[in-house]
Amino acid sequence: EDKLKLCIDNLTDKSAKTRLAALESLRQAFSSRVLYDFLTERRLTISDCLERSLRKGSGEEKAASATVFALLCIQLGGGDEAEEGFKMLRPPLTATLSDSSASIAARQSCARTLGMCCYVSSDLIKSLALLESVFMSSYPNGEGVLPTPKPGSAGLHTAALQAWSLLVTICPTSRLTVLLSHHLPKLQACLQSSDVNYRIAVGETIALLVELGREIDEEFEVEDGESLCECLKSLATDGNKHRAKNDRRKQRSIFREVLHYIENEDFTEEKIRFGVENVYIDSWVRRRIYDAFKEILESGVRDHLQFNQLLRDIFGLGPPLILDAAVKGNKISRFEKHLFNSAAFKARTKQRNKVRDKRADVMYFTF
Ligand SMILES: *[C@@H]1O[C@H](CO)[C@@H](O)[C@H](O)[C@H]1NC(C)=O
Repeated sequence: EDKLKLCIDNLTDKSAKTRLAALESLRQAFSSRVLYDFLTERRLTISDCLERSLRKGSGEEKAASATVFALLCIQLGGGDEAEEGFKMLRPPLTATLSDSSASIAARQSCARTLGMCCYVSSDLIKSLALLESVFMSSYPNGEGVLPTPKPGSAGLHTAALQAWSLLVTICPTSRLTVLLSHHLPKLQACLQSSDVNYRIAVGETIALLVELGREIDEEFEVEDGESLCECLKSLATDGNKHRAKNDRRKQRSIFREVLHYIENEDFTEEKIRFGVENVYIDSWVRRRIYDAFKEILESGVRDHLQFNQLLRDIFGLGPPLILDAAVKGNKISRFEKHLFNSAAFKARTKQRNKVRDKRADVMYFTF
């Protein structure tokens, strides 16, 4: 904690190099352990420094401070305390994301942070619209022709699309119906994008939207489903020699899964082990949520699954198995109060039935 305090002091240092080093240390610390009490006390100081870096820093500093802020929101559990910081940071995050002259890396990081902070807090619809405005520039024009992407823009479109699909998982049904009919046909066209990572993100988003559509209505059918499946099939078997071998392999395996899901409504479940527990990734929605946390927390995601009540709540894991002395007593109920108004709570409610089934299963075998 003493070292962290020094890092926080360094966030306001005159030298950009020192500030960057401090941001990197904080990123590592925040992603590798839960520091709820320490950060609750210092959240305003830190938010203040991050806001300044985000407004005045270089592209690199902007990118780093946006990432640290996403981590801060995750650490604070997304409740009122995170909300306070978000009020302060939202304007520079939005300004950077909408600024076409800002660095792509900074905009990419802002897209991801906006997605995550909204996901764990509020203001869903506004952020959906902003993220859409970013990746919709990859959509085909009136004649169905895809625009020529600007250099580096595929990464930004990918980040915006993934942040958007994270928010779509907590969208109200009425809104979802509109989003499905508007975006599915356009996204289908984007499967022809020249960037492999964007194609993959588009494929995963299509699967996720179809999954949500089927949840609303069992009879849900993709418009022009045959041509979608043809297109997915060709990507799942893509032998285009002009593309790098690794890219083709990654693309083929993901598109095989997407195609299998669209045709058979079957998802290949994945089990993530952490500590002595497991979390099951058994749907496209859960995969998007897990991947979003993993992109930001990196290998620290396992520690957060083990000890961070926010993540445990989202994945239906209950209280941490080994309670730290500091977390005992009234801290948990205080924490739960914060969660109550947050999107995390909505997500939990949405997923409850599914999770309950899963847990019942696990209990059965354990006992
Ligand atoms: C703070 O910055 C100074 C000057 O760059 C550096 O020597 C020191 O290691 C930094 N402190 C921490 C904890 O990173």
